[in-house]
Amino acid sequence: MSSAPREKRTPGESRPPVTVPQLAEMKGEGKPIVMVTAYDYPSALAVEDAGVDVVLVGDSAAMTVLGYDSTVPVGMDEMVMLAAAVRRGLRTPLLIGDMPFGSYERSNEQAIENAQRFVKEAGCAAVKLERGGASVDRARAIVRAGIPVMGHVGLTPQTATALGGFKAQGKTANRAIEIAEEALALQSVGCFSIVFEAIPAAVSEALVGKLEIPVIGIGAGAATDGQVLVFHDLLGIHQGHTAKFVKRYADVHEAMVNGVRAYAGDVRSHRFPGPDHLYSVDPSVLSELRTYLDQESLAGEKWDWSATEI
Ligand code: KIV
Repeated sequence: MSSAPREKRTPGESRPPVTVPQLAEMKGEGKPIVMVTAYDYPSALAVEDAGVDVVLVGDSAAMTVLGYDSTVPVGMDEMVMLAAAVRRGLRTPLLIGDMPFGSYERSNEQAIENAQRFVKEAGCAAVKLERGGASVDRARAIVRAGIPVMGHVGLTPQTATALGGFKAQGKTANRAIEIAEEALALQSVGCFSIVFEAIPAAVSEALVGKLEIPVIGIGAGAATDGQVLVFHDLLGIHQGHTAKFVKRYADVHEAMVNGVRAYAGDVRSHRFPGPDHLYSVDPSVLSELRTYLDQESLAGEKWDWSATEI
């Protein structure tokens, strides 16, 4: 371990924590809500310092940090572990835990139990779940259990197969109406906010006007009350295909590769470690050590690996 976790800052140095009612106020005042994902302690420190309003420990962690092919395999234990790490680095933004596939569909009891894990074990202020339909009942149950819920409609990655793949939703009148019904139903059971994902800008604009709660868009145009992007997408931490709606603000992957490559080059060419990276020792200590090492009796027996049972 080469560095300790960051020291706690003194009170007054940071903004007051963002609350659920504050997001409604921001919508009322027309102030855009900035939401981003984070999955560990260093990403939490970065989004804290950048001054965002809402942090989602998204189940996109399945791909971005755990290397799965989709969001489907990630489980509650993994999500709670990541959310707890984010909590340790976060002071101000509202922290939301994303309920993974299979953690809430079976029953209201299952949904409440897992939502409570995010709150009790990871210190989340709220949870997010995907889709309308049965998820509306689950959202109602969690809200009644005292935990704020964010909905998520449009392209819902956990059930993308049923939607015909990863493509924009609401391009037919039927599907646009279905999304409107889902969003209104989620609002009616007490969701404090909804994510709109991959919805044509004009459809999204029409729906936002009918909703009282803040709508956070990802690939849903500029009319939503806020925007969310995946941390790894916006910073370019991973390579390969990204959705049309992603805007890259940095190329961190390239910076990381270049850094590690430079280190490898320095080690191989004996440029690292240099004089600045060494600890010094008193010459008398060294001389005592040398005397000890030069003793005849020190040349002990060698370990016989052939006699070792593995
Ligand atoms: O898991 C996630 O990162 C999300 C956001 C894209 C909203 O659900």
